[in-house]
Amino acid sequence: MEFFIDTGNLEEIKETYAWGLIDGVTTNPSLVAKSGISQKELITQISEIVDGPISAEVISTEAKGMLEEAYELAKIHENVVIKLPMTKDGMIALADLTKNNIKTNITLVFSANQALLAAKNGATYVSPFIGRLDDIGQTGMHLIAEIKDIYDNYGYQTKILAASIRHTDHVKASALVGSDVATIPYKVLNQLFNHPLTDSGIEQFLKDHQNAK
Ligand code: G3P
Repeated sequence: MEFFIDTGNLEEIKETYAWGLIDGVTTNPSLVAKSGISQKELITQISEIVDGPISAEVISTEAKGMLEEAYELAKIHENVVIKLPMTKDGMIALADLTKNNIKTNITLVFSANQALLAAKNGATYVSPFIGRLDDIGQTGMHLIAEIKDIYDNYGYQTKILAASIRHTDHVKASALVGSDVATIPYKVLNQLFNHPLTDSGIEQFLKDHQNAK
């Protein structure tokens, strides 16, 4: 399973990348806004830190504008993955980018049918937002499981990228259903290490070591 970090914070990327556990980065317009620098500058700097897929999202709502943005973003670095919204225009832009071998990530996916469309048009990644489904009283993880079944039925190569992860159980559940990737916020990545028995075990071993003859 691949882990991406979902952030526009360069310090978080540097710190977590050093762990050796991070395979890529996802950003979105809200995360870019928080970074305080332009999207171009942010993606350039991330590509200097991380050797792996870096998702950069378009802002245009029409296919023509999406494609103009996409080709500019793709010039930044070969690891750039173009993030497109799950709309008709997004699908038109996706078909073009697939034909031209540009990697893509279809975002704001909330149904299995939307994920099916993304796979049919050759998306590299599809991003179901599990936390936001939980927010409205649904079970986001069920969506990941449905997409997994559908993709397996037809052998689609599109990778499932579990997004909008809010807690460590989302990571575990994504792994259990076979999500290819989870994009995880900094706080949740840090929480993955924790177990109280690990802490008390280390404490006891250190105590015993100090008391040893
Ligand atoms: O990867 C998508 C993610 O950034 C959205 O997360 O927590 O805003 O739903 P959230």
